[in-house]
Amino acid sequence: MKTYKITLIEGDGIGHEVIPAAKLVLEATGLSLQFDEAVAGWETFEQLGTSVPEETVAKIKNSDATLFGAATSPTRKVEGFFGAIRYLRRRLDLFANVRPAKYHPVPGAVKGTDLLVVRENTEGLYVEGERRYARGRVAIADRVITYDASYRIADFAMKLASRRKNKLALVHKANVLPLSDGLFLEAAYDAAANHPAVITEEVIVDACAMRLVRNPSQFDVLVMENLFGDIISDLTAGLVGGLGIAPSGNIGEENAIFEPVHGSAPDIAGKGIANPTAAILSAAMMFDHLGEYQVAAAIEEAVDLILESGPRTPDLGGNASTMEFAAAVADKLQEILSS
Ligand code: NAI
Ligand code: MG
Repeated sequence: MKTYKITLIEGDGIGHEVIPAAKLVLEATGLSLQFDEAVAGWETFEQLGTSVPEETVAKIKNSDATLFGAATSPTRKVEGFFGAIRYLRRRLDLFANVRPAKYHPVPGAVKGTDLLVVRENTEGLYVEGERRYARGRVAIADRVITYDASYRIADFAMKLASRRKNKLALVHKANVLPLSDGLFLEAAYDAAANHPAVITEEVIVDACAMRLVRNPSQFDVLVMENLFGDIISDLTAGLVGGLGIAPSGNIGEENAIFEPVHGSAPDIAGKGIANPTAAILSAAMMFDHLGEYQVAAAIEEAVDLILESGPRTPDLGGNASTMEFAAAVADKLQEILSS
């Protein structure tokens, strides 16, 4: 049996609760896993003067995959501080942000929803330095779209689409941004030449938002640049019940970091009541990425069965602790895998 090296980074706040909870589920997979713990985030910055020590980067590079909790970012400007996850995305060239929005039995989720939002993670409006400037009462932020990054993300999304329904929405605003989104589409069509089975559809981003709310099942995989992906993936997370359950992956050629979409939730941190579902489903995504499809599917099934039967955490109307919920999922997972 192959041994996977998994780096675990709790980060801040409820990261200290949801990652140990997810670890309980990882240990119930029956796979051979070698864990390595690393630090990052605000607490790390306060202790070590950097939010991402080089040792953490080395551990991530040296592992098959990383599971990350959440990191706090101060709301005021702090000299020398940078956001841990944003730094790691760039440093490790984790160019694809993959955010599934799949129905799980929780309040407010739209039945039948099964979407995959693929967001370009390295450019768009999220570039720094001389690409932002203010002169008096005018502030400008350049939106950078490159052919290469657009080709790479479109190609990546088409590979995912070909494992699903061969259906891909190219989300853009080329009617208003013909240079930048025109280039995005041009690159996407060039990538499509390598994936003849994938049917692509162009969708203008604002219409996409409206159509998603009205009938999410009309889409399957959607690919888009950074800012559009940030907003649309929160919308799709909302369609399936929100932050407590939404997982994500940051994927590059060499490395991958999986993390819940939610943040460090300082309002509930330390109480042991955070919902670990998003972290557990991020672990399922991690196994899918590693090619352990059966384990990934079994984790999802175990999560769904426990979400249905309870125990549930307080955000879903129950009174279970983070660890009680995770232990129930871990037990169910062992039952599924041994049957
Ligand atoms: P948040 O996601 O931490 O919390 C928003 C609301 O959802 C809070 O009421 C929280 O209690 C609730 N919530 C979030 N996750 C939950 C869970 N697993 N179970 C139950 N309830 C949950 O977002 P917020 O408050 O805007 O940000 C807090 C901190 O987290 C900030 O410092 C922010 O910068 C950081 N953040 C970090 C992210 C990351 O590490 N990727 C993503 C988003 C925010
Ligand atoms: Mg966001």
